[in-house]
Amino acid sequence: MERDLSHEFLRVVERAAIATAHTMGQGNRKMSDQVAVEEMRRVMDTLAIDGTVVIGEGERDEAPMLYVGERVGLGSKQNQVKYQEIDIAVDPLEGTNLCATGAANAIAVLAASDAGGLLHAPDCYMEKIIVGPACKGAVELDAPAKDNLKAIARRLDRDVEDLVVIVLDRPRHTDLISDIRKAGARIRLIGDGDLSAGISAAVLGTGVHAVMGIGGAPEGVLTAAALRCLNGEIQARLVVAKEGQRERMEKMGITDLKKVYMTEDLAPGRKMIFAACGVTDGNLLKGVRYFGDGTRTSSLLLTLEDRKVRFVDTVHLERRPDIKVRFF
Ligand code: FBP
Repeated sequence: MERDLSHEFLRVVERAAIATAHTMGQGNRKMSDQVAVEEMRRVMDTLAIDGTVVIGEGERDEAPMLYVGERVGLGSKQNQVKYQEIDIAVDPLEGTNLCATGAANAIAVLAASDAGGLLHAPDCYMEKIIVGPACKGAVELDAPAKDNLKAIARRLDRDVEDLVVIVLDRPRHTDLISDIRKAGARIRLIGDGDLSAGISAAVLGTGVHAVMGIGGAPEGVLTAAALRCLNGEIQARLVVAKEGQRERMEKMGITDLKKVYMTEDLAPGRKMIFAACGVTDGNLLKGVRYFGDGTRTSSLLLTLEDRKVRFVDTVHLERRPDIKVRFF
């Protein structure tokens, strides 16, 4: 599955990013999201798969496309041919505000696995701690921030003062931010995008050592899919913040709201493909660059069983007969 389909899924995120980046800075996050969703859905339907969206744009009655449970790919159109059954988690535009304002780190992203390989997480919040391979097994979601920071520093052979922790800039994180500051670590507050932040924490040299705090649960599952391939760690717990969410979780079979989900609980698949393409320039990926009839994209393509981490720089010249490729 991974070898056959990874480049196909790469094409999906590339096309979604290319379409969406045209809306950068237009100040309309809904429009940006809609463009991403439509293009991702359109390209996904050309894939030779029998796909099911397990994390998407919402429930069937709230989202016209890429809703949870929607079947995608050629398998959804005809029954004569048997295609591979694949579960898919999508976030066609992670960081809708980032794209709408032209800020860094908006990405088009998806994960695909063998059936049952991605937790069907409800669209609620999730408490998270995310670290890279060197710190695997050293942190605990429920430990005080200062203890986790000491453990991370020890594993990275540096002082707590040398660490950088990414936290979403939200009022709900006032205590967490104050605890991290008291412990002496540095903080990068971000407006949005804890998924790309989580991936950065698992890649050496990005200058990000951990992500802490509460973000979206769907983003948490996608982060876990990437971390399985990058050998990083996420620990997480679902958070009930709105009325009706508890009932919704119970309907989905989630009864233990105290459960700490480890990386393998969130993304248990044996086979996993993770693909992300930069929409706006970011820490890890460049945004889409348009030049005349051509376009250049920067993506991350990960496979679990095949054990490949690919940073893919693609020049798209489909509409250009006189090919001229620049080295940059
Ligand atoms: P969108 O792409 O849907 O705008 O989400 C961006 C994001 O910042 C995620 O990265 C994060 O997990 C979540 O929103 C946090 O939610 P909230 O903005 O409600 O604090």
